[in-house]
Amino acid sequence: MTRLNQTIEAIKSEALAALDQAGDPEAVKALSVKYLGRKGLVTLFLRNITALPPEERPAAGKAANIIKQELEASFQAAEKRLSTPGDQQESGIDVTLPGRPAPVGTLHPLTRINRRICDIFNRMGFNIAEGPEVENDYHNFEALNIPKNHPARDMQDTFYVSDNIVLRTHTSPIQVRIMEKHAPPIRVVAPGKVYRCDSDLTHTPMFHQVEGLLVDTNVSFGDLKGILTAFVQEVFDVKTSLRFRPSFFPFTEPSAEVDILCVMCRGKGCKVCSHTGWLEVMGCGMVHPAVFENVGYDTSKYNGFAFGMGVERIAMLHYGINDIRLFFEGDVRFLGQF
Ligand code: FA5
Ligand code: MG
Repeated sequence: MTRLNQTIEAIKSEALAALDQAGDPEAVKALSVKYLGRKGLVTLFLRNITALPPEERPAAGKAANIIKQELEASFQAAEKRLSTPGDQQESGIDVTLPGRPAPVGTLHPLTRINRRICDIFNRMGFNIAEGPEVENDYHNFEALNIPKNHPARDMQDTFYVSDNIVLRTHTSPIQVRIMEKHAPPIRVVAPGKVYRCDSDLTHTPMFHQVEGLLVDTNVSFGDLKGILTAFVQEVFDVKTSLRFRPSFFPFTEPSAEVDILCVMCRGKGCKVCSHTGWLEVMGCGMVHPAVFENVGYDTSKYNGFAFGMGVERIAMLHYGINDIRLFFEGDVRFLGQF
């Protein structure tokens, strides 16, 4: 390396060392003037090349020009870096901007209500039971005191798989299956899908029920009312009243349907309660002795109660939804709200 090249190299190192110390864009600008300005050190060096012997000029000029470009780039980068806030350096990303949210799934409202219902009964000492959705005629009807050709079969529009096999029309067959396997005392709730040939604003061909069964000695209708009253008060966030309206089910005697004071209008009457002020949420009653006989329970010793509620019905009231079909359309704009 020639002596002259050493000079320009020294200027470069000096300039870069000074740049390292520069703390703000103004300091960088000053250095830029000092080295690259009209009277800057690099500029003067280039101008003085004409004083060199002709054979040395090309090499010196080339070296000086490369260094000039390198310094220009370094000054520019340093100025840009120093005028950008610290947390935005390197990547050019503004980390103070809110992130792009990743879509997160939620539990289906029916799953949430189903869990809520089961949790409440769990806390009252009920275990969870399950049974098959494709059921035989015996468990869905006959064991529940609904013989073939009995008019009570018309209460539920049944999907038949074959003469003797149906899609279960309610969760009550699970009662029978539990009692066939276990001796009293029994306290269970049985959630599950059920099927009926039925479709409108408040009915779908597939829906969910939660069945309850309690069998013990000296169980009274008062116990049933107490448990269901406690449940209804707990499952809706708002306080509501309920009434037991006499009804009929072949597998319970006496039987009742439970209405709650409309949670939308508080009894004044609105579209949701068809202007009656009350809404039916479930059926219930004292287990019919004929059902106990079918599973071999001693009816002189044991009695009990059962109930069956529509999960969609409870969910509609809980969330204020007026069309049951929304639950099954899979529209994420609807589902994302829960
Ligand atoms: C029954 O299914 C009886 N097994 C209930 C029962 C159990 C009574 C134990 C006594 C002892 P019901 O057909 O009324 O009863 O139906 C019970 C609830 O299911 C109704 O109150 C309603 O909330 C709901 N439900 C009935 N049909 C439909 C449907 N197509 N779509 C949505 N919910 C329905
Ligand atoms: Mg009913």
